[in-house]
Amino acid sequence: MKLSIALLASLGGVGAFVPSRTSSVARPHHPPADASSGGIGTTTSLNQFGTLGFDTNNLYSREEVETMRTQNEIIGFLEETQRPNTALRSDLGTTVLISGFDPTDPSSTEILDFLNSEDSPHFPFSRIIAHCEDVKVARKRLIGRNARYTGLLDKLTFSEGASSPIPSAEQLAGVSSWVAHVGGGDIARVADVADAAEGAESVKNVAILVSGATGVGGDALRGIEEMLKSKATTFAYTLLVVPEWNDEPEALCAFGIVNATDVGGSPFVTGETFSREESLRIITECLALDRAAGKCVVANAAKDANSLENMLIHGMREIGFSRIQEIEYMVTMGAKGYSDAIAAEKTDTAWEKVPDETEEEKAAKARTKEEQILLNRQKRKEAEKQEELKAMAMEWAKREYLRKHLKRHIPIKEEEFIEVIWDRAMFEADLKYRTMQGQAVSESEERKKFKENQEKKKAEAYKMEQERWKKMQIDELEPKEIKGIRLGR
Ligand SMILES: *[C@@H]1O[C@H](CO)[C@@H](O)[C@H](O)[C@H]1NC(C)=O
Repeated sequence: MKLSIALLASLGGVGAFVPSRTSSVARPHHPPADASSGGIGTTTSLNQFGTLGFDTNNLYSREEVETMRTQNEIIGFLEETQRPNTALRSDLGTTVLISGFDPTDPSSTEILDFLNSEDSPHFPFSRIIAHCEDVKVARKRLIGRNARYTGLLDKLTFSEGASSPIPSAEQLAGVSSWVAHVGGGDIARVADVADAAEGAESVKNVAILVSGATGVGGDALRGIEEMLKSKATTFAYTLLVVPEWNDEPEALCAFGIVNATDVGGSPFVTGETFSREESLRIITECLALDRAAGKCVVANAAKDANSLENMLIHGMREIGFSRIQEIEYMVTMGAKGYSDAIAAEKTDTAWEKVPDETEEEKAAKARTKEEQILLNRQKRKEAEKQEELKAMAMEWAKREYLRKHLKRHIPIKEEEFIEVIWDRAMFEADLKYRTMQGQAVSESEERKKFKENQEKKKAEAYKMEQERWKKMQIDELEPKEIKGIRLGR
C-alpha cells in the first residue's frame, strides 16, 4: 500500500516539511543545503522584528535545518542501500491458529482482518482457528455480516479454550503457524506458548505479541529471550513486546523497534501506550518475514518529529516502501542499525581519505547527494504521473469505445480499438491532467497541432509501407539469387 501525502502529513515527522498550521508564513519545503549561511540569515532578520505574532524562533532554527539535513541523509541512505529484498518464510503452511484474543475486544477482529486480507497475498492460510474461552460468544462476535464476502466464513473455525488459553497438543495438530497474544504484560506466559509449540510437530512458526508490558523490566525481557532460544528447536519464533494498547489506527504514528538485548532498565515509561492495530500489523508481518525469525523486540511509538525512528519511517513512506518492507527494516535494522551503518561509513571514508576533505569538497559532495535525492524524487513523481496518465487514457479509450459502440456497432474488439486509438487517448489524458493541475492549456490550439502531427505520422507510415512493399516486390522477383547466395556460403 502506498501512503498518500495527506496521510504522511499526519505523521509527526512531516511537520517540518509542510507549511506549519500555526505559522502564516509559507516556508519553502527544503532550505538550501548550506542554510547555515543563507537560511539562518533570514531568521536573524525576521527575529529583529520580534513581534510577528508567532514564534519566530522556530523559523529555520539551527535544529530544524539539522533535522532536514538528517532527513535528506536518511532518504539518500534508504534509496541507495535499503531497497529491501523481502524474503518470506516458505513454511507458513495453510493453517494458522490465534490464541489469547478476547472476542469482545477489537483486537480479535483486527487480527482476523490482517490474516485474511486480500492485500496480504503472503499469508497462504486457508484455515484460521480461533482458540477462545467461550466458542459461542466468539462465533457470534467474530463472524460478522461481511464474513461471507471476505471469505472468512470459509476459513474460520474455533477451538475450545475454556480450560486453558494455551491450546493442547491435539488442538495444535495440523496447525503450521500460530499467533499468540499474551495480555497484561504477563511475559512468564510466553514459556507456556513455547512449550506447547515445541510439543506440536506441525507448528513451524510462532509469533508472540505481549501487550500491556509497561511494567516489564529489561532483565526479565532478556530472560524470556534466553528461554525462547533454548526451548525452540522445532519452530521459528518472533516476540514483540508493547506497552498498554491505545485505539490509534495503524500507520498513523511512527514507531521504533529495539532488540530486547539492547533494552536498558525498562523499555517503557509510565503511561506510555502503543497502537493496538499497529502492534497486530507488526506481529502478523513478522510471522511472514524470514528475517524476523528469532527476533525478540520491543516497540515504542515515535511521536517526536526529530527522532531518528520518526525520520526513518517518514523516509521509507516517502520513498514508497510497503508496510511489510517498512516493518522488515525496522525489526531487522531499526534506528540502531541505521546509526551503525552511518558510523561505519564515516570511519570507512576516514580511512580511505588521508587528507581531510575541505569544507568546499564536503559542501560539493552534499550538494550532489541532495541533487541526486531530488532527481530520484522527480523520477518517482514522473513515474507516478505516467501511471496516472495511462489510467486516465484507458478510461477515456474505454468510454470512447462504448460511445462508438452504442452509436453503431463497430466490428472491432475493445482491446484492438484501444490499441488503435491509444495515442489520442494519451493526448486527451495529458490535456485533462494539466487542466486538473491548473496549468494553462490552450485546448483548440493543441488539438490542431495533435491532429497535424497525427496526419504527418500517418503519411510517414504510409510512405514506409510503400517502400517496404516495393522492396518486397524486388525480393520476390529474384528468389533464385537469394537462394544462390545462401548456398554459396
Ligand atoms: C539488533 O541487533 C543487531 C545486532 O547487533 C543489529 O544489527 C540491529 O540493528 C538491532 N536491531 C534493532 C531493531 O535495533
